[in-house]
Formats: sequence, C-alpha cells, structure tokens
Amino acid sequence: MSFNLPQKLPINKIYLGDALLLIQEVAVESVDLVLTDPPYFLDKLDNAWDPKKVKTKTRRQAVENLPAGMKFDPEQGRKLQSWYGEVSKKVYRILKPGGYFLSFSSPRLVHRMAVAIEDAGFHIRDMFIWLYKEGRTKASSLDRYVEEEQRNALANWKTPQVRGNFEPIIVAQKPPIGPLVKNFLKYGVGLFNFSTRLEGGYTPSNVLQTEEIEGIPPIFLVPKPSRSEKGEKNDHPTVKPVQLLQFLIRLTTKQGALVLDPFVGSGSTAIAAYLEGRNFLGFEINQHYYDIAQQRLSSVISREAGEDADTTVPPLLTLMQP
Ligand SMILES: C[S@@+](CC[C@H](N)C(=O)[O-])C[C@H]1O[C@@H](n2cnc3c(N)ncnc32)[C@H](O)[C@@H]1O
Repeated sequence: MSFNLPQKLPINKIYLGDALLLIQEVAVESVDLVLTDPPYFLDKLDNAWDPKKVKTKTRRQAVENLPAGMKFDPEQGRKLQSWYGEVSKKVYRILKPGGYFLSFSSPRLVHRMAVAIEDAGFHIRDMFIWLYKEGRTKASSLDRYVEEEQRNALANWKTPQVRGNFEPIIVAQKPPIGPLVKNFLKYGVGLFNFSTRLEGGYTPSNVLQTEEIEGIPPIFLVPKPSRSEKGEKNDHPTVKPVQLLQFLIRLTTKQGALVLDPFVGSGSTAIAAYLEGRNFLGFEINQHYYDIAQQRLSSVISREAGEDADTTVPPLLTLMQP
C-alpha cells in the first residue's frame, strides 16, 4: 500500500532548506496532518514600499504616505494565492486520504489561501478562529495629511485599522476514499477526536480562545507564548502557542501519527507533536530560525527526559487528558 512507504527523510527531525524542495523527499500518502503557519510575504510591502507598483491607486499622495500595515497592493494577495497553490499541491501528494491540512492565516489573506487550497483538490471543512486579546490598535490619526482647517471634518476619523484580535485557521481535508468511517479505519485520519476536551469540559469549538475575555465563555485558555515558552533567544516574530498546536494535533490525529510543518519557524509545531506523542517533520529556510528551533526542541526533549530542570515550554495544564 502506498501510504506505508518508508520516508526518504528520517522523521523526528527539523531540516534546513526550502520546503518546496524538501517536501518532494517525503513519501506519497505518508503524512497524517500538515499543520502550518506559512509566510505571507507582506513584510517587503511594508518595509520597501514602492508606490509606483500600485496600479489601482486613486490618490497618489495618500497611498504613498499611508503608515505601515495600511499599504496594500492587491497583487501581493494574488502572488500569495499562486505560491500557496503550489505548496498545497505538494501537500496533497504526501497527505494520507482524509488527512487534514490546517493553515494559520490572516483576515485579509484568508480568502486567497482558502481558494488556493481548494483548487489543489482539498475540501474546505471549517474555519477555526483563534481569539486573543493582545492585539494593538494600529489606526493612526490623519491630522498630518491635511491642512489645519480640514481637521475638524476628520475629528475621530482614523485609518481603517481596528485592533486585530483573531487569526483564522483554514481547516482543509484531502478527500477521503469512500465513506469517512471506512477511510478512518483504513488510514487512521479524517474524523475529529472528541476526547479532546478543554479546561472546564468544553467540547471542541471552532472558536479557540487563548485567554479569558469578559462575556465570552473560556473555551480554550492558553496564553500567547510567554518569553519563557519561546526561549530567551527566540526573536521569531510570529511564534504560535504550543498548547494551541497541541490541541489541533490531538483533535485530528492518533498517537504515533506523522505531523509535518513545512514552515516550522522556531519549531513550535515540532515541539507540540513531540509532547503529544506524535512523530514530526519540520522545514525551515532561515538558518537563524532553524537554530532557534533546534535549540528549543532539544531543550524540551531534555526536559521531558528529566535531564534539564529548566523549562522553556510550560507543561500541558489546560487540556484535559483523553
Ligand atoms: C510565520 S513563520 C512560522 C512561525 C512558527 N509558527 C513558530 O511558531 O515559530 C513562517 C516561517 O517560514 C519560513 N519560510 C519562508 N519561506 C520558506 C520556504 N520556502 N521553506 C521553508 N521555510 C520557509 C520563514 O523563515 C518563517 O520562519
């Protein structure tokens, strides 16, 4: 059977290199879950903004002067869709039938990513929302763009940037072969594990909350990664909470499953898979982040083996044991 082919890349390792090349070394239909937080390639837009490349601008001055985070070239989204389409096709090849492909995304790019994934052959099953309260308001006053006499007309009006308090997670599935139950009994993937109860006994929901927010029931109480969870030297800008990843892994896979993160950054998915008794593969193109991931992973492995009293990842407190 094709899904049992040996890996060309030894598992339980993080590799330095381009995910699009490395994934070709992964055996066909051998991976139970792909869980990732891909790059969006928006940084360049903010840091090296070239207004000449924006074809749809209407008021040149206003666009040129907009603050970082407001600048948006629709071409950027289309490029991301095309690139993520290539990634998704490669993910499709290595996932078992019925296996899940979970992608963190951002509110203004999620439509492009979802279409890319669907066009590669996946079924879009759901959209999880990771809620958090640390988001900061980015809206800025427009006073500096207008003459003094125009300021009254703009009182209380700012750039359209409310506080960001959620990240969408696209829940896609490689189509199962035959009915879901038959597929699950053969390949071990495709259903959700409902013993994945959360603190307080809540059943899984598509709203994943990291902290208590007044008026909303505490569904998934995991703080954003603290300095100690990230590791002292971890300067990666988008570290995901390990416990959130543990929840997603536990919901979608069985013990011993193989979890791949092609854009593993500082190693959070590999650590979560390890802590959940799953196998993992991680790819990272940036030497600096690769080094951080290796260091974080080995310190968790040492801690779990009782060799190191220093903890860099908090123990799993908020998920109830199955
Ligand atoms: C959003 S970050 C992931 C952060 C990760 N979730 C964590 O908790 O640390 C995406 C990562 O993908 C890496 N990356 C970008 N292009 C890549 C490629 N072609 N192959 C492998 N990694 C890549 C970036 O260097 C970055 O660290």
